[in-house]
Amino acid sequence: MVTGASSGIGEATVRDLRARGWDVVGVARRADRLQALADETGASAIACDLTDQDAVTALLAEIDAAGPVHALVQVAGGARGTDRVENGSTADWQWMYDVNVLATQRLVAGILPLLRRAAAGDGHGDLVFVTSTAAQTAYAGGGGYNAAKAAESMLVKALRQELNGEPIRVVEVAPGLVHTEEFTLNRLGGDQVAADAVYAGVDAPLTAHDVADVIGYALDAPGHVNLDLITMRPVAQSAQHMLARGPLRVRPELED
Ligand SMILES: NC(=O)c1ccc[n+]([C@@H]2O[C@H](COP(=O)([O-])OP(=O)(O)OC[C@H]3O[C@@H](n4cnc5c(N)ncnc54)[C@H](OP(=O)(O)O)[C@@H]3O)[C@@H](O)[C@H]2O)c1
Repeated sequence: MVTGASSGIGEATVRDLRARGWDVVGVARRADRLQALADETGASAIACDLTDQDAVTALLAEIDAAGPVHALVQVAGGARGTDRVENGSTADWQWMYDVNVLATQRLVAGILPLLRRAAAGDGHGDLVFVTSTAAQTAYAGGGGYNAAKAAESMLVKALRQELNGEPIRVVEVAPGLVHTEEFTLNRLGGDQVAADAVYAGVDAPLTAHDVADVIGYALDAPGHVNLDLITMRPVAQSAQHMLARGPLRVRPELED
């Protein structure tokens, strides 16, 4: 089961896992986009708002009825706003906490019984979470998203310890700058010019496919290998704040 499947990293993950031979159920709110992806890739699609407990209960019942569940890839999430802490929008912060943290907890609670059943028969089950480098390093204007992603990341780390002794892997993938169509656009309230400026001149930001490829690798790794935390960035982004713009180039040798 892959959440966030209607766009960006989740959509790319559905494609990647189908290519690796997985049976995949893609989940997000926009049914039309999910259905188009399902038609193209042979995945299944279930529309669901992950911030709604009743909807998630129904989702998991439908998934359970369809067969054993071996893995959850929790990609759904996002950012709203770049406000300073002192004038942050409570509504935006609430949305970020709901979708990145509470939806993750709700999914884990609901899917663990299904995953345990499958793992008992097949050796292991997998939980993969896409957090962010924003969970690791704060930046001005990032407070709401930093807080939500750090909370999600801590949830994942606690969960791995709680599952110690069970054959269930818990993997965290923390990407830096990924150029997807909607993430920054949504964060900046639909301002395409401002969204384009975030990526302007960066020599090869990560793509959704790059992240999906790492998720696929983590899932296909031998069952006893748990990739706890994979932090990945474009080469042009050496650290959260160090984003090179312009073509990457070899420097002339430094003189003594
Ligand atoms: N892009 C980046 O630079 C970047 C970097 C690091 C981490 N991340 C993280 O990676 C994840 C995916 O990012 P992305 O770039 O692929 O963004 P995206 O294209 O905006 O994808 C977000 C996905 O989440 C789904 N979603 C949002 N709210 C939902 C809800 N209430 N219920 C169900 N699904 C919901 C959206 O689908 P619907 O709107 O159809 O529901 C969409 O499929 C996010 O968790 C993000 O925080 C992104």
